[in-house]
Formats: sequence, C-alpha cells, structure tokens
Amino acid sequence: MNNKDLNTTEILEKENSPQSSPHNNPDQYNGEVLDYQSVKPKNTNNKKLYIESYGCQMNFSDSEIVASILSEAGYGTTTNIEEADLILLNTCAIRDNAEQRIRKRLTQFKQLKSDNPNMVVGVLGCMAERLKAKLLDEEKLVDIVAGPDAYRSLPGLIDEVDDGRKAVNVLLSREETYADISPVRLDKNGVTAFISIMRGCDNMCSFCVVPFTRGRERSRDPKSIVHEAHDLFDKGYREVTLLGQNVDSYRWNLTKKGELKKEGEPSVNFAQLMAMVAEVNPKLRVRFSTSHPKDMTNDVLETMSAYENICNYIHLPVQSGNSNVLERMNRTYTREWYLERIEAIRRIIPECAISTDVISGFCGETEEEHEETKSLMEFVQFDFAYMFKYSERPRTLAERKFEDDVPEEVKTRRLTEIINIQSAHSLISNKKTIGKEYEVLIEKTSKRSEEHWAGRTSQNAMVVFPKLDEKTGDYVKVKIFDCTAATLIGERTA
Ligand code: 5AD
Ligand code: SF4
Repeated sequence: MNNKDLNTTEILEKENSPQSSPHNNPDQYNGEVLDYQSVKPKNTNNKKLYIESYGCQMNFSDSEIVASILSEAGYGTTTNIEEADLILLNTCAIRDNAEQRIRKRLTQFKQLKSDNPNMVVGVLGCMAERLKAKLLDEEKLVDIVAGPDAYRSLPGLIDEVDDGRKAVNVLLSREETYADISPVRLDKNGVTAFISIMRGCDNMCSFCVVPFTRGRERSRDPKSIVHEAHDLFDKGYREVTLLGQNVDSYRWNLTKKGELKKEGEPSVNFAQLMAMVAEVNPKLRVRFSTSHPKDMTNDVLETMSAYENICNYIHLPVQSGNSNVLERMNRTYTREWYLERIEAIRRIIPECAISTDVISGFCGETEEEHEETKSLMEFVQFDFAYMFKYSERPRTLAERKFEDDVPEEVKTRRLTEIINIQSAHSLISNKKTIGKEYEVLIEKTSKRSEEHWAGRTSQNAMVVFPKLDEKTGDYVKVKIFDCTAATLIGERTA
C-alpha cells in the first residue's frame, strides 16, 4: 500500500487510544479491552479473568494492578469474554454518560451469566465507590463491588461470592498506593506503560466527583517508582507515563507547607521525581499526566527542558477562560494566572505541545463568560483539547451550591462552538509539522495498514509511516509530508 492510499479520516478514527488521552475522557474512545493481551497467572487455578477498563489512564493502570493481585490468586487474563470465570468492569463516574454506558454494558452480560451461572461479575473503580452497596440492588447481575483502594481484598471478595454471598469493599484509604505491586502489563504493545505515582485528589474542584470516589491524595514511595521504571526498561519498554490526578502536587516526605515529615530522610517533589525517572536511561521517554495550573511550577518546566527524554508535552486543563466561572469551579486560579503559565511553558520549552480540558455550560455560565473561553482558546491555540458538556454529579460542591441552570441545548451549542475552534487549531498545529523531521518512538503496526507503523513524537502527535526494517520500541527519524487533525503522515529519513 502506498502512503497516499491511506484514507486519513479513517486513520484519525483508528489510531486514537487511551494512550493518546491524558486524563479522564470516556467520550473520546470506546474504553473496553483495546489491545489487551491474555496473560498467564503466577500460580494457576485454571480460572480466567476478563477485565474492561473505562475512563482515565489511571483506571487502565489500576486494572494492571488488579490483574497482578488476581494473578497471585491463580487467575490468568483472557480477552475472550466467553471463557471468563470472572468479569470485572473498572468503571468511571466522571460524567453521567460514563455511568450510563457501564449500565448498558452490564445488561449485555445477562446471557453470558445464564449460560454460565458460576460466572462472577464485579464492578470496580469510581462508579463502585460512588454507588457502593446500592449498585448490588440496582444491578442484580453484579456480585462484587470494589472501590479503588480495595483491590487487595478482591481474592477474599471472590471467596465470599463462592460461598453464596454478594461482596462489597469500598473503604477508602489514606495510605494505599499499591507501591509493592508489580502490575501485570495488559497492553499488547510492550513499548509504552503507565506508572501510577500517586492516588486520590485533595483539590475539590466544585464540578468533580473524583475526590469522593478516589479519596485523599497520597504519593507513592519514589524508590518503588524508579524501580518500576528500571524494570520496564529492562523488559523492553521505552516510554513511561507518570500518572496522578494532580502530578504537580506529588510530594514524598514533605508536608503541604514544604516541611520535612521525617527529619534526616530525603524529600522528593515532582520535578525531582521526574528527573530520577529520566535518569533511569536516556532511551526511556518520560511523560506525565495531569498537571494543575495552580501547582505547575517553573522547576517542573526547567526539569523538562533539561532532559532530552522528558517529552515536550503538557496537558494543562483550563476548564474555562473566565475568572468568575473558574472561581465557581473552585479551580483557585484566574484566566490571567493560566495565561501566565502558558507563557512560562512557551518561554522555557519553546517546542512544547499543550493540550487542555474544557467544560461548557457550567452552572451560571453566561454568554459573555462562554465567549471568554472561546477567546482564551483563540489566544492559546491548543494543540489538542478534550471538551465536555457540564454534567452535574451527586455530592459535589457544585451540586450543593449552584443550580445546573444552563439549558441542554445551550450547553450543546456552546460545546459545538468550542469543538469547532479546537478542530481548526488541531489541524493548524499538525499542518505546522509538514516538512519537518521528528524522532518517533515506534509503538505498533498501524491499525489501518499492516505495512505502516504508528508511533509518537515527543509532542505526543501520532505519526503513521511505511515500514522498512524497524521494530516496535525503535526510535526513528520521520519527515512529515501530510496530516489530518489527529494524525501525521510521514516517511522515515534515518
Ligand atoms: N462534567 C463535565 N466534565 C467534567 N470533568 C470533570 N468533571 C466533570 C463534570 N462533572 C472533566 C474536566 C476534567 C476532565 C477529566 O473531565 O474537564 O479535567
Ligand atoms: Fe477532579 Fe479537580 Fe482533582 Fe482533577 S484536580 S481530579 S478535576 S478535583
């Protein structure tokens, strides 16, 4: 197949995966199993686990922790649901439509369960945490409900079900980081992997359910993070994404005020952690997600610029371009502060790609406030954006304090307007790459064509190019000659 034969619109649809989506974005892709592989367990009991992950990268990472815990208990993973003894859905609760999708998916298991009454169905993650035991009443098919901090108890919960009871554990923890668990890598590509560096969130953005479903923020021991990165590199992985709801507030042995928790022991902040991981090997690319504009400091940017292998890409959710809306959202920064952070990124890392999240139709959003979001987008010209209609979530500050008063059709119209702006900017951003050469890390065969590779630039742009004698995990130089709004098309030069 010739390059020019590629239908670029189809590439755009096919190449997107959660790898390309830095934060919670269940609307952007079909979630589910993706390129998961079947993995043999450590000690077998001949039982098989089928796991689907929805929502953010953290959930995909958590599913690998779950697979590891269950591997110890004798479960291998399968990608064939028909042969599963245990089906787990790792769920998202960020917007109502994410939950509706999961409920719909559960109804599809009815037949499987009537064919195999011993099959166990469990709901994990944020929706489990939000609804707790109520989920068992609402969804009769579900046997297990386990929240994000309860995965170590899964083997025990399965035993309870085997004894004829339904099982729930939704306790949140202030300490659990699963630091000692070596995740079973479910993604097939063997090149890119997630490393979770912290859990929970203390920010209380007024629209967000995450602090309620994932609990208090806690950071993972840096030694275990660096060890995991070394281990991945030795196994052939060439890119790690450090994950946290707000990575800039990573801190080890430090209080929020910046004082040592334990005298005599070193402290580590996010910039230092990133440097430690970058030093594992210059051939190991480092990404991270997600940053919070209030916490993203210049030392993080300077560390990024100092290390060739820390990727030039920042996902910096703005949510709104209007300071009053930002205040109602409890984001604790203003439009001006955000723009100053953008200016700092462009000054310290001139080649850095920037993406964002935007919510349209938040409580009380006026037409003028919406116009300010549009003008901010025009000013910044993001390379990529995830855009959502506001969806009221139970228990959040916004639900308690404000009325969800922007009519549905206004939310939809405003969302369409910002999507149109972003589509134009994404295309401009990609067009700028035409004629330039980039170092690309090869991740996999293009889903559109066996004769093409798919890989990413440091700026996180997906590149498709014809195969020669390379293999996945190789770094190659690719010159771009064409693009769509989502994919670059090029040819290898070195
Ligand atoms: N409604 C719409 N979008 C939301 N997000 C978080 N909570 C909501 C909500 N209630 C979006 C934010 C966040 C991203 C992960 O999801 O933009 O950055
Ligand atoms: Fe939610 Fe805000 Fe925490 Fe992100 S930083 S998870 S939007 S509360």
